[in-house]
Formats: sequence, C-alpha cells, structure tokens
Amino acid sequence: MSATSICDYAGYDYKKEFWETQNRVYEDQIERQTLIKLVRASKATPQDIKTYLDAGCGFGRLFHTYEPLAQSFILFDYAQHLLDQAKSTLQSRKPISFVQGDLNQLPFENASVDMIMSVRTLHHLETPRNFLSEAYRILTPGGHFIFEIPNQRHWLNILRFALGRLKQNPFTQDRLQLNTAYFNFHPKFILKELNTLGFEVKQTVNTSFFRSTLLKKCIPTTWLCNADAAFQAILSWVYLTPSVYVLAQKPK
Ligand SMILES: C[S@@+](CC[C@H](N)C(=O)[O-])C[C@H]1O[C@@H](n2cnc3c(N)ncnc32)[C@H](O)[C@@H]1O
Repeated sequence: MSATSICDYAGYDYKKEFWETQNRVYEDQIERQTLIKLVRASKATPQDIKTYLDAGCGFGRLFHTYEPLAQSFILFDYAQHLLDQAKSTLQSRKPISFVQGDLNQLPFENASVDMIMSVRTLHHLETPRNFLSEAYRILTPGGHFIFEIPNQRHWLNILRFALGRLKQNPFTQDRLQLNTAYFNFHPKFILKELNTLGFEVKQTVNTSFFRSTLLKKCIPTTWLCNADAAFQAILSWVYLTPSVYVLAQKPK
C-alpha cells in the first residue's frame, strides 16, 4: 500500500490475497445476507432504486448480490486497478458506470443517488464525517444508506484490553487507530454523527459473531451463517461483533 493518506491498495491483489487465499467464505456469505436483509428492510423496490452506488466497491465483490435490487449502478473506488478488475470481470444487462475518486469528496450531483452501500470502507477513513455528509448530500430525499461500521468494542478487543494487549479502552468513543490507514469506531459515535447530519437510523445489525479461524475451520459455513442470523435477531443491541451494519434514511 502507498504512503498516501488514502489507502489505495497499490501493489495489493485484494481479491486473491484477502478473499481467496484466506478462509473468508463465512464473512463473504454473511455480508451478502446482511446486505439483502437491509435492502429488504428499507422496503425500496428495484423501481424505487434507479441509481445504486457501491461506494468503495473494490473489485466489485458484492455486485451480483445487489444487481437484482436496482436499475443501474455506479461502482466507485479510489483504486483504479480494482476498478479495472471490476470492469473486466463483471457482466450485466443493466447499466454500470465505473468512477474513480475519493469517498471524502463524491463527484456526484446533489440528490442524484437512490441507495448507497459501503462495505469495509469506513475503516480506511480517519474522519468518517466527510463521507457521511457527502452520502447525505447526494442521496435523493427518502434514499437509503447501508454501510458497515468497523466496531472497536467487539468482544476480542474487550478481551485484548482486559489482558493489557490493547492500550485504548474500546468503550470510549474516541476512534481506535490500528495502523496508519486502519481505524475502528464506536457504533454510538457513528450513529450520533448520522443523527447530526439529519439521517434517520432505521436499523442496526450486529454481524460476524463467529469471525474466528478455529470456528471457521471446524464448523460448516452454512451453520455459522444460520447461527449468525439467529444471533443478529436477538443480540442487535450488544455491539460485540467486529461489524455493525446500519440502515439509515435521508428524510423525504
Ligand atoms: C476492504 S476494501 C472493500 C471493498 C469492497 N467494498 C468489498 O467489501 O469487497 C476497501 C476499499 O475502499 C477503497 N478506499 C479506501 N479509501 C478510499 C477513499 N478515500 N476513497 C475511495 N475509495 C477508498 C479501497 O481502494 C478499497 O477498494
């Protein structure tokens, strides 16, 4: 990765090195399920979602999951090589445009996008407020924003803190910086930011309860995903998972 403040994935084969050579089938599956669940919860139909923005799309991993849910797509990322990879591999009868740029300054008109999704991107933003406010600006009134919060107060960080391996108390609302371009946030801090900007938070979902190498090795992915879905239903208020998904709406 380059030394710029934007994590541009230069020289990194994200698809191969992160998703294919490490056992992340469970994470991939549960993220797809959660995404569909939240789009359903939004009650927005494909007729409502004329333009769907995947903000920080990478190589377009989730494209085929959201493709049936909208009419046209913008795949947006800072890393040109990941956009090129998406362009050369994704096929659809629906219109897709590929746009390069920075999440902190979205190159789109006010009120021009009906749904924004952003997965695994917030952890690269030192100050998420810029992106959240840009998302608000470009959403149409009534439009939805679905994104993932990299949760700093997940159970493993709590354990690390208790054992003295993590210096910062994960329960404080200051962001947790893990390296130069990698941050975790307290879900309540991000939810407050959304409220300040005018978003209505409709739902939060705790996911990836079982992100553990041992569990993933011993238990079939389908079982883990089913158990995750059950835990999501009863434990959405605990904020103990590494990922917390949010469904927010710009008022009509
Ligand atoms: C962990 S990857 C996630 C990709 C995709 N959302 C997924 O879940 O497979 C993070 C992505 O965010 C992009 N990114 C990081 N900082 C960015 C910024 N400031 N503006 C635009 N994209 C950014 C990276 O290039 C990378 O593709």
